[in-house]
Amino acid sequence: MPVRLSVPKESASGERRVALDPSAVSRFSKMGVSVQVEKGAGDAARFPDDTYGDARLLDAAELYGQTDIMVRVAPPTAEEIRSLPEGATLVSFFHAHRSPEMVAALKERRILSFAMELIPRISRAQSMDALSSQAAVAGYKAALMGADLSCRFFPMLTTAAGTIRPSKVIVIGAGVAGLQAIATARRLGAMVEAYDVRSATREQVESLGAKFLDLGVKAEGEGGYARELTEDEKKRQQEALAGFIAKADVLITTAAIPGRPSPKLIPATMVEGMKPGAVIVDLAAEGGGNCELTRPGETVEHGSVIVHGPLNIPSQVALHASEMYAKNLQNFLSPMLKDGEFAPDWDDEVIAKSCLTRDGGIIHGPTREAIEGDAS
Ligand code: NAI
Repeated sequence: MPVRLSVPKESASGERRVALDPSAVSRFSKMGVSVQVEKGAGDAARFPDDTYGDARLLDAAELYGQTDIMVRVAPPTAEEIRSLPEGATLVSFFHAHRSPEMVAALKERRILSFAMELIPRISRAQSMDALSSQAAVAGYKAALMGADLSCRFFPMLTTAAGTIRPSKVIVIGAGVAGLQAIATARRLGAMVEAYDVRSATREQVESLGAKFLDLGVKAEGEGGYARELTEDEKKRQQEALAGFIAKADVLITTAAIPGRPSPKLIPATMVEGMKPGAVIVDLAAEGGGNCELTRPGETVEHGSVIVHGPLNIPSQVALHASEMYAKNLQNFLSPMLKDGEFAPDWDDEVIAKSCLTRDGGIIHGPTREAIEGDAS
């Protein structure tokens, strides 16, 4: 019997994405996999049921009960995990350390789980990297949000009513999301400046036509990521940053350090020094925010500065974000599906390192340590 690959309707509040779009379903079907989609699963991403021609459409109870592999976007609830057959495979974002109850259900049902956020960020796995694909979506949308909330135009406008200067947009953190925000703000005609603690980003920022702000603070960490700044570095960074921020019309912050809360880079005093009507879009809101005044999921006004802390931005661009995520899933799962059989090669580091639970145990060391206090 061919492997049954299930696509459920996402249950997390506000989640509009779906794990597989209709074209990804066709590609899996061509691999000899039997794809089944929960009725209405693609509705919120604008993929109606009748576009899933290559899949069986099932009710939730049937779908969960007949699953060999389930793919999803947002972490499942413990109850959803308990509805799966024992030993089934589940591929999703999990953020496991946030939910011991979910991990307990994965262990109890002996689920083989792979976490998309654990896929190693090596060159070979770039096409599977859902953190990057979804961060790119978020960066694009952040620039649009900034333009939308601003009381100013982004581009220079020469009209009969006079000439308007372009907006100045500053982007802090030039990783995947930051670079996409820079590119989008540039396309909208803004003057863009950007800063990151990793010096490798200077060239990337400049290649997008933005100016790199050299604040004299560098913090290269492990694996191409940033490390946390020392107190002295933080102080120097803030002093150097304040003068630039005071001239910004829109500030987009994306700074993150893996496994740590978002670094607080913008104190209230810096916001108070900003122009009337300036906008902060804090993409780090999910991890607590880069701005001291950010309230995750809310838009607040401090004086006349708008501080926007959006959550789950990729869900707002649900159709394309789903298509990109589905490609990531396909590139991750295809090597494990040989002649319609599911056969993971445990010697493959991408497969081994992205495994969260297997045979009733937590495989991923840091999660095991966070939940069971045992990293060995
Ligand atoms: P991220 O979301 O962890 O962080 C965003 C950005 O914030 C990073 O560029 C980081 O340097 C910056 N940052 C941290 N603390 C800061 C501070 N105090 N001030 C200013 N900026 C600060 O990073 P993301 O975007 O997920 O990836 C970062 C890098 O990882 C990429 O640019 C790339 O070099 C590498 N990467 C490699 C991949 C591959 O080879 N397959 C795939 C994706 C990323």
